[in-house]
Amino acid sequence: MLWNASYETGIAKIDEQHKELFRAIDNLLDVKNKGRVKEMLDYLGAYIVKHFTDEQQLHVKAKYPKAAAHRAFHDNYVKVFNQLKAKFENEGATLAMTQAVNKSVVGWLTEHIMVHDKEFAAYCRANNIKG
Ligand SMILES: [Fe+2]
Repeated sequence: MLWNASYETGIAKIDEQHKELFRAIDNLLDVKNKGRVKEMLDYLGAYIVKHFTDEQQLHVKAKYPKAAAHRAFHDNYVKVFNQLKAKFENEGATLAMTQAVNKSVVGWLTEHIMVHDKEFAAYCRANNIKG
């Protein structure tokens, strides 16, 4: 998964963390890291939680009207990710697992950035709030 400028929100902290999420997913999907999938999933899972926490703090600070809905989206995703992780711990790094990561993690990250975070960034711009 490659980062490109279309993913930019313009909020430096969020953009930096998104880049790290791309890197973490890339490492997870890299066949060279096949023996370290558990470690990669642990790292990605912890980084996702950190990223969500930081974003939610920015939402509160900016008095973002959609903060609660965005938070619900985050909470739901943490559940999905944890299910995926538990599945991996039971079944190991199967092809199905790789496909699930591709569909669930990659698809989620794209939607998260392109829809939800861009909406927040637009709110900040419209209200002259520096993220
Ligand atoms: Fe984000």
